[in-house]
Amino acid sequence: MSRKSYQKIARLYPGRWDQGYVASKLRTDPLYTTLASELRNSPLPLLDLGCGLGLLAFFLREEGIEVPITGLDYDDRKIQSARKAMLAANSRDLSFSHHDARQGLPEHLGNVSILDILQFFTACEQAELLKLAVARVAPGGKLIVRSGLQDASLRFKITIAGDLLAKATFWMKAAPTHYPSAADFESILNPHGDLEIKPLWGKTPFNNHLIVLRKP
Ligand SMILES: C[S@@+](CC[C@H](N)C(=O)[O-])C[C@H]1O[C@@H](n2cnc3c(N)ncnc32)[C@H](O)[C@@H]1O
Repeated sequence: MSRKSYQKIARLYPGRWDQGYVASKLRTDPLYTTLASELRNSPLPLLDLGCGLGLLAFFLREEGIEVPITGLDYDDRKIQSARKAMLAANSRDLSFSHHDARQGLPEHLGNVSILDILQFFTACEQAELLKLAVARVAPGGKLIVRSGLQDASLRFKITIAGDLLAKATFWMKAAPTHYPSAADFESILNPHGDLEIKPLWGKTPFNNHLIVLRKP
């Protein structure tokens, strides 16, 4: 996607702060391009847990991916911003709602994404959320997670520092609680399909990985 398209998505948002954040996030983070290629050939609806400003949804629309998308986040300010962007984009089949993922998940059958939010959950809450999410993946669908992985790397230490900074600057409502390891994902998700775990940090210094479970 071109720089022009990044600017187009950024301009959907009401405030300068969100616009600046969106443009720089799209420029530096390979997350959304990767999600677009994971989801491009799927006709299934998407449930995006911890959707934040709804960036994934607007990126997918810009890429011509028109499946229904439901975004949930417990930060009401971000949901309000995502809704304003939705009106500005005049996009169909998008919805953004205030919801705490620790309180269970709505009914859904399709693909599910959980991007950069697991660190706010305890180990037990992470396991519960992953089980609820995988139960909402349709046959042939995917659960796609990005998470910083707990390991011995310098990248992992920088990940923790970055999340603490996000809390200190009030960008995030919560400080990080627990980071899962690759072994955690393997033990929870392996019984449900084909699991792939690979680095997805792009130009960032963080220890982010992409975890994709494909249901048979
Ligand atoms: C780092 S941001 C990622 C936003 C989005 N997934 C993305 O990648 O563009 C993490 C998001 O998780 C949300 N979040 C954290 N805990 C949550 C919870 N218990 N329920 C719903 N959303 C939550 C935060 O409000 C924040 O918007």
